[in-house]
Amino acid sequence: MKEKFFGARDKWWDFDPLLIKCTRFVPQGKVLDLGLGKDGRNALFFSMLGYEVDGVDIDESAVKQSLERAKNLGVKVNAQVADISTADIKCGEYSIVLAMYMWQYFSRETSKHIITKMKNALSVGGVAYVAVFAPGDICFDRAKNDPDFKLVGPNTYYAEKGQWWGCQTSSKQTYVHSFTKEDLLSLFSDFELLHCSESVDMDIDHGKPHHHNVLIYIGRKCP
Ligand SMILES: C[S@@+](CC[C@H](N)C(=O)[O-])C[C@H]1O[C@@H](n2cnc3c(N)ncnc32)[C@H](O)[C@@H]1O
Repeated sequence: MKEKFFGARDKWWDFDPLLIKCTRFVPQGKVLDLGLGKDGRNALFFSMLGYEVDGVDIDESAVKQSLERAKNLGVKVNAQVADISTADIKCGEYSIVLAMYMWQYFSRETSKHIITKMKNALSVGGVAYVAVFAPGDICFDRAKNDPDFKLVGPNTYYAEKGQWWGCQTSSKQTYVHSFTKEDLLSLFSDFELLHCSESVDMDIDHGKPHHHNVLIYIGRKCP
């Protein structure tokens, strides 16, 4: 099990360590991962623990790679190619909804719509896990220095024909957006607060080692 979970040292699993804590208060049931990513790291973490996991990503190759990785690990993930903002998500179905490091691609308005979808998707007592590249993160420096991007709102850049620097997004999405801690606490004011933190994290997954400003909110849906 240990071998499967962590693999060789240079391929250590990179799930978010806070997820381990989460498993203590997430009831067994279904998990939804919004924006799986290329390795489905968080979705696979839960499926290895016996949760039934659904996931979506707009990037076909991310879905394909997550499914392949699940197969190699002998676990199952129901992954589909879809746009989070328009995907049909069942109400009251999930014990935890993960929305990690995908907020930057959406406008503030769409992000708020996604938060409403997350809340509706959770069963009572279910947990919302939100991880955001916080204001001041390097992606904002990039937008600030890219002549195609204009500041259009609080912590929000927009480019008419912008590209998310190599990442696939839906054709309409050319935003670089973030929530502040205060934003998130207020948007989840109807949830029980379990965790909220801001930190500077090291990223050694791609390119040269670099840092991200990270904001994590975890809350539980109240009866
Ligand atoms: C930075 S990765 C984070 C992946 C994963 N959540 C993690 O924490 O490792 C962001 C992911 O969001 C996906 N994404 C971006 N826009 C999306 C959209 N409109 N609908 C679904 N997925 C989207 C990207 O394809 C990418 O895989």
